[in-house]
Amino acid sequence: MNILVTGFNGKVGFEVAQKLKEKAIPIKCAVRNVEKAKLDYGDAYEFVRLDFSDSSTFDTALNQIDKIFLIYPPGDKIEFERFLHQAKQKGIKHIVYLSVKDVQFLPFIHHFKNEKLLKRLGVPYTFIRAGYFMQNLNDFLGDEIKERQRIFIPAGKGKTSFVDTRDLAEVAMIALQDTENHQNNKYVITGDEALDFYRVADIMTEVLHVNIEYTNPSVKEFKGFMLEKGVKEEFINVVIGIHFPTKLGLAKGITYDYEKITNKKPTEIKTYIKDYKGNWM
Ligand SMILES: NC(=O)c1ccc[n+]([C@@H]2O[C@H](COP(=O)([O-])OP(=O)(O)OC[C@H]3O[C@@H](n4cnc5c(N)ncnc54)[C@H](OP(=O)(O)O)[C@@H]3O)[C@@H](O)[C@H]2O)c1
Repeated sequence: MNILVTGFNGKVGFEVAQKLKEKAIPIKCAVRNVEKAKLDYGDAYEFVRLDFSDSSTFDTALNQIDKIFLIYPPGDKIEFERFLHQAKQKGIKHIVYLSVKDVQFLPFIHHFKNEKLLKRLGVPYTFIRAGYFMQNLNDFLGDEIKERQRIFIPAGKGKTSFVDTRDLAEVAMIALQDTENHQNNKYVITGDEALDFYRVADIMTEVLHVNIEYTNPSVKEFKGFMLEKGVKEEFINVVIGIHFPTKLGLAKGITYDYEKITNKKPTEIKTYIKDYKGNWM
């Protein structure tokens, strides 16, 4: 069994690679820049080049692969359908696809179309419909927390169902190992508590011993500040879009799929903040 882990450099793919490696399951880690990955990780992983916007990379990336942990990356000209058809031709036996919670109500996002594509493809799949990543706090929210001690995001007063990407990776690993029992299933993976960003700021303050504030900017204020900072408009719009359902109060649903699959409680946000403390100090 050889598993292709896409998005290795990302918040979920890296954790999936960790979990599979711990179990000594053979993996190939897909990155766009193999040389850089080798510099960063040495021989710890086997890397293969995969760029979803460059179909000439697909064949080699899919060589001797049985299963895929699949993400849909940000960016333009992503040839996802072509990649999926090539994967089928190469005899891929199972795809675990990282999707998003409430995708069924969001026909305008890529994941809606991608889930349909995957179903039509006829390769057994497992969909992991993920809640809002805790790791966003040390990713695109990280700079402002570190530099200005504020959570700066237009998410209003709404609650969102935070999930630790390490928990998502655990579900992915289980589904990849035991494909028969998880074939053509959809799991909605969240933590066990929906929180608003005021509460998250309080917990961060308590754990980090630094006063962290949630400033709840308007979309206009957020966009203006980020543009001035040099962030690309396309990315800013994606980030605003991610937080829109929260602002509308639509992101607070909690599920218990994680517990059912793993027999464990999902990671609490306090634990996540303790574990990642060094990122904001
Ligand atoms: N953030 C959330 O709260 C949330 C919640 C639910 C679902 N999601 C979904 O999670 C997915 C993103 O996963 P993530 O957050 O783990 O990723 P991420 O941290 O945003 O990292 C992006 C990853 O995509 C890869 N990538 C970018 N462009 C690529 C391309 N053209 N071809 C191949 N790989 C490419 C990067 O690889 P290299 O660096 O190697 O180039 C990197 O590994 C998205 O589909 C998003 O909708 C996010």
